Amino acid sequence: MQQLTLGVFGFGVVGEGLYKILNQTPTLQTTIKKICIKNPEKKRNAPESLFTIEKNELLNDKSINVIVELIDDAEAALSIVTTALQNGKHVITANKKMLAHNLNELLHFQKSTGKSLLYEASVCGAIPIIRNLEEYYDNDLLHGINAIVNGSTNFILTKMFEENLSFADALTLAQQRGFAESNPKLDVEGYDAVNKLTELLLHAYGIVTHPDNLLFNGIQNLSLTDAIIAKQKNQQIKLIANAKKLKDGSIATFVLPQFIYNTNSLAFAKNEYNAVVLESALSDKQFFLGKGAGSFPTASAVLSDISALRFDYKYEYRKLNQPQVSKVSNQFAVKVFISFDDVKNIEKNDFISIETWHITNTRSYITGVVAFATLENNDWWKLNNNSLILLPNAIVELDEIEQLKKKSINAATV
Ligand code: HSE
Repeated sequence: MQQLTLGVFGFGVVGEGLYKILNQTPTLQTTIKKICIKNPEKKRNAPESLFTIEKNELLNDKSINVIVELIDDAEAALSIVTTALQNGKHVITANKKMLAHNLNELLHFQKSTGKSLLYEASVCGAIPIIRNLEEYYDNDLLHGINAIVNGSTNFILTKMFEENLSFADALTLAQQRGFAESNPKLDVEGYDAVNKLTELLLHAYGIVTHPDNLLFNGIQNLSLTDAIIAKQKNQQIKLIANAKKLKDGSIATFVLPQFIYNTNSLAFAKNEYNAVVLESALSDKQFFLGKGAGSFPTASAVLSDISALRFDYKYEYRKLNQPQVSKVSNQFAVKVFISFDDVKNIEKNDFISIETWHITNTRSYITGVVAFATLENNDWWKLNNNSLILLPNAIVELDEIEQLKKKSINAATV
């Protein structure tokens, strides 16, 4: 068992949470030697002697064997993390953007230095999903992941649609409670969620990709009408990261708002809670629920990585190293609901089949099936206040599409 001496970067929501928890966990035999911060003027709840603004005081200190990186800036974080690994230190980080945007490079550094790079806190806060996918599902056939991975958007949806708060008030509350990113657009428009999906794909399927290659949208266009329709159908709307193994073994994957039945396990995740449903061939469905954002929940995941490091834990990336790694596919279609203000903003000929047109003087909607590649290649569905929400069990495989076409309303007649 290793004695750990930490150098921590950042003393924000998570950094301060970690400091407090470590003070209450003497059994871990882990001490913080220095904390590097940006602004020395700010008053902080820790002894002044702990703080420095000089990063090399941590990175070049031989007595520090673990760097815990908890800053906001992904570019600065990458430089800290790679230097730390090269200087022979283990690294723990919560920086999902830095990880998702630099997976290849980070895998290389981790391998060449032989040091641990752990990041449980970067996905789903307190839910131990990375290590679970990495360790437990190694030999299982993982058929799919449906997950609420962003606490702020789940918080906003709960407050807006269940407690009648306005979007602006709900967002302000999420910011005050330390859930939101410093640029909340990253939460609201789905960037944070797709970063986390990128990480999940690596540990679930050995897929190394970049968020730019994945289709995503956030909750920015959802309207109250959408929520009322959901309620009428005993459903609710959640922002969900999906990965599903198709019949040919390739992976359908995206982040989009989705209608789910009130009986769906994910519906139990309220406010800043995150949730994950894993579908596997041998064990059917498994459900994880836990706080996905906030000081202590996120710090608890960092603590768990610290604890694992004491036993020299590192990710082995077994799925990445298996002979055949799954590929991401766009050869499928999705069942969609799109609400809109003006029918001229809907490309009805882009639909494979149309099931419903509901036209009113205010907010109207259409439901039907669209090829996933059509969504990838066009953006009309998210412009001009159009709001696309996937219907339950949205994925349609190629061999099921012909059947749907037969039932379709002819777009030309509408
Ligand atoms: N802004 C993120 C969220 C923080 O709301 O989920 C946790 O990663």
